Amino acid sequence: MKKIGLITSGGDAPGMNACIRAVVRTASLNDMEVTGFYRGYEGLLENDNVGLTRYDVRNIIHRGGTFLKTARSSEFRTKDGRSKASSIIKSHGIEGLIVIGGDGSFMGANLISMEHGIPVIGCPGTIDNDLFGTDYTIGYQTAVDTAIGAVDNIRDTAASHNRLFFVEVMGRDAGLIALRTGIAAGAEGVLIPETPTDLNRLVNYLKTDFKKKRRSGIIIVAEGDSEGGAYEVAKKVQNEFPNWETKVTVLGHIQRGGKPNGFDRILASRMGHGAVLALREGRNREMIGISGGQLVHVPLDHAIKHNATISPYLLELVEALS
Ligand code: F6P
Repeated sequence: MKKIGLITSGGDAPGMNACIRAVVRTASLNDMEVTGFYRGYEGLLENDNVGLTRYDVRNIIHRGGTFLKTARSSEFRTKDGRSKASSIIKSHGIEGLIVIGGDGSFMGANLISMEHGIPVIGCPGTIDNDLFGTDYTIGYQTAVDTAIGAVDNIRDTAASHNRLFFVEVMGRDAGLIALRTGIAAGAEGVLIPETPTDLNRLVNYLKTDFKKKRRSGIIIVAEGDSEGGAYEVAKKVQNEFPNWETKVTVLGHIQRGGKPNGFDRILASRMGHGAVLALREGRNREMIGISGGQLVHVPLDHAIKHNATISPYLLELVEALS
């Protein structure tokens, strides 16, 4: 294989730049050229490309976001869109494609490979950590660190003013960011989509604690929780505590940006390196995952079809320590 294509796609995640750097440098070491396409499948469909040498990826390992930019493309979801993309890829003499992104991006990668015979390898880049077959996705740990830092700050205000805060974190329909943030920030409760949310139980718990002189608290609400986001939950709980001031903070995109932490830089470097080697070995339609500290190859259709599971142990830990 002499030439590969590279895109970052879907929501940006801290560590994507480190992964791009690893792909380009590993390819260069193996005498392979890399063509990057800007803005994911959208830029690919516009043939908005750039040749990447090892020197083009200097000074990016520490930067958040993705210098190749990213997007979610509706055209690529169509058969015609993928046909057009395949012609563009082939017109460059590209023999394999590396996609750094999440489940939507991998779904597209899987399809273009099956329909047009283009070998694809995915590197999981999403803060949601919702792909099956990998313990971690690139950007997740940094996003959790960012959320923890924000909740720590909120706790100062909560304690100073005797307030009950509902903090909404991202994760789409996965509660992994919420769960880890809740444990590390010592939250009094965590509401996630993977488990049934019982607001009466939460209210009773808070009432008991209130009698024992609790005057402030933090509840982490995953954006995909079945009771709605933090505003909805706060409204319902506030009715039970008319004299306790409740506040809502939606962390939003603050969790997606910022410098990748050390863990994500190393993870991204390993996965980018592994992705190029996988293409060279003739692998196809696989995601590079990490399991028990080792890189693994996970078929793309497994990675996207099964949501990552929530550890019952971590759920118990939240309850036990709150
Ligand atoms: O998938 C990453 C993610 O940040 C989710 O956690 C969130 O639901 C979604 O993307 C937000 O997407 P956008 O940036 O397009 O609003």
